[in-house]
Amino acid sequence: MDISGAKVGFIGFGNMASAICDGLLLREVISPSDMYACARDRDKLAARCGERGINAVDDAAGAAAASDIIVLGVLPHQVEGVVTGAASALKGKPIFSIAAGIDHARLVSFLGEGYHHISTIPNTPIAVGEGIIVAEKTHSLTPEQLDLFESIFGRIAKIEYFSSELLSLGGTGAGCAPAFVDVFIEALADGLVKHGMTRQQAYSIVPQMMIGSAAYMMKSGRHPGELKDAVCSPGGTTIVGISALEEAGFRHAVIYAVDKIMDKKHSM
Ligand SMILES: NC(=O)c1ccc[n+]([C@@H]2O[C@H](COP(=O)([O-])OP(=O)(O)OC[C@H]3O[C@@H](n4cnc5c(N)ncnc54)[C@H](OP(=O)(O)O)[C@@H]3O)[C@@H](O)[C@H]2O)c1
Repeated sequence: MDISGAKVGFIGFGNMASAICDGLLLREVISPSDMYACARDRDKLAARCGERGINAVDDAAGAAAASDIIVLGVLPHQVEGVVTGAASALKGKPIFSIAAGIDHARLVSFLGEGYHHISTIPNTPIAVGEGIIVAEKTHSLTPEQLDLFESIFGRIAKIEYFSSELLSLGGTGAGCAPAFVDVFIEALADGLVKHGMTRQQAYSIVPQMMIGSAAYMMKSGRHPGELKDAVCSPGGTTIVGISALEEAGFRHAVIYAVDKIMDKKHSM
């Protein structure tokens, strides 16, 4: 689809919405003059918009009126008040919700039928055009609106569709897990620093090792266990490290972290 001149509005311009905006700017998907954002704190909004060269608007209705597609980027507990307050401006516009836990049925319960929206959970690497958008299969975008959504945001993220039941779990895997990866990078760097490397040297190799390992798995299509085996020579050093990770319960710690996140989500 030709998206030249398409206008994107952000209702709420906090951490996640501005990460999406940054990805669009970095990849030159949408020009700054074609983006509009609103938030409650006018000074903070003016600063955030000013540094990106995008337009600050007064409120959600203003962002909706100015845009061809709307990123709904307020906190989950703020969604109902914001969408009902701007309901008439939102009518007929495609709404790309990023609010965790607000699925299609919840949005319908707030807005009623006849609105066009898709519920998703993106992740922060979208800021550098390497994101994932976990999207709910059940949505109310028209085919043209879905095409617009994919044509714009598919340029900065891999979009994967999940059933309503798996949306929240997808959000754990895509949205929460970047923090797990950050902790792993930090911990591996700690180990290297412990043995004499500078922090700067450690951070110059560890993230690239992560990117390369993930790219190798995706591009080769090989199983992660097979790739791990290929690095572990018999009687060698890497298998000693793997054995130590197993002894320390590394796999269990990761699975347990997913268990605890899902317990927390189910209790909310
Ligand atoms: N952070 C992540 O990694 C991540 C990942 C996936 C999904 N999400 C989802 O992204 C959404 C935003 O999260 P966040 O971390 O970006 O939160 P955040 O930094 O607190 O941003 C929330 C934004 O909403 C604005 N806002 C609140 N009420 C408003 C209103 N009535 N009208 C217009 N704007 C309003 C806030 O403005 P003020 O600051 O001026 O109050 C702020 O700009 C959440 O629903 C979250 O579930 C986040």
